[in-house]
Amino acid sequence: MRVVDRAIVRLLPAVPRQVVQRLSAPYIAGATLDDARRTVAGLNAEGKLATVDVLGEEVTRAAEAEAVASAYHAVLDAIAGDHLDANVSVKLTALGLQVDLDRSLLATVVAYAAARGIFVRIDMEDSSCTDDTFLLYRELREARRDNVGIVLQSRLRRTLDDVAALAELRPSVRLCKGIYVEPPAIAYQGRDEIRESFVRVLHALLEAECYPAVATHDEWLLERVLERVEGMPRDAYELQMLLGVRERRASELVAAGHRLRVYVPYGERWYEYSLRRLQENPSLATMVATATVGRLVPGRG
Ligand code: FDA
Repeated sequence: MRVVDRAIVRLLPAVPRQVVQRLSAPYIAGATLDDARRTVAGLNAEGKLATVDVLGEEVTRAAEAEAVASAYHAVLDAIAGDHLDANVSVKLTALGLQVDLDRSLLATVVAYAAARGIFVRIDMEDSSCTDDTFLLYRELREARRDNVGIVLQSRLRRTLDDVAALAELRPSVRLCKGIYVEPPAIAYQGRDEIRESFVRVLHALLEAECYPAVATHDEWLLERVLERVEGMPRDAYELQMLLGVRERRASELVAAGHRLRVYVPYGERWYEYSLRRLQENPSLATMVATATVGRLVPGRG
């Protein structure tokens, strides 16, 4: 990332919310469940699968966590009712993990999904959540809930050990770099180290006969992944991308016959997710500058 982009990333929280909302519009389906339904139906028509995320994280009150769980139930009903080719992604902190609320909310959502034949992916958040996430996942699997999967982050130094520890469960694993900034003691910092770890973890997952959902837009990594999966049955792995990112490349991968799933976030609580997406956009500085000048100079932007 260029120096100017790094400076903008630091300043991003000071950028007016209205500007952040406008810039992040391509990354979010909209505010309502109907927006998400339409987006997923459109993706399905292009041969892409979807995973729906109800925006929100770090919930601090029981009532909020319960509202998130109800929103997921509505999503699951919509997926089943509309016969959409989609599953859901949940964040444990949105279901109250950090405030030690009733941990059974995750189990409730997973059971509701199981009754409709739908899979639930537990997103991975920062390293303060990693152990709890694996613990809850293991509990679900031991209770014979098989419609649930996890996420591993190649940024974390522990990840190969986590593959070894979880291998007996043959987990469905979304593999990504990991978006949260973590200290050098527990996380690789350099681009190349994170990429190399990603490739090592992918190989370990495949050797352990896990189902990998490979989530990256990084062309270098995608090429390594495509080399590795060449000749494998197309239902033995999938690729994943975020809504609004590298859509043309996603379509090419679908045309080449790969299963590709798009992460579709929707909801009122768009702000934190939007900041993270904008921070990863290589043309962030130009976008913010144009949008900000657009607000200051009438008729521009
Ligand atoms: P990288 O960031 O290097 O991006 C490669 C290229 O993609 C860029 O050079 C650019 O061309 C393009 N690009 C990337 N982001 C863009 C943007 N916002 N706008 C425009 N272009 C962009 N993380 C986590 O910690 N826990 C999780 O549960 C998940 N879940 C998840 C699901 C899915 C489906 C995806 C794709 C990603 C995640 N992530 C995640 C995020 C992941 O950890 C990582 O931060 C991002 O995918 C960015 O890393 P890449 O591997 O895409 O490479």
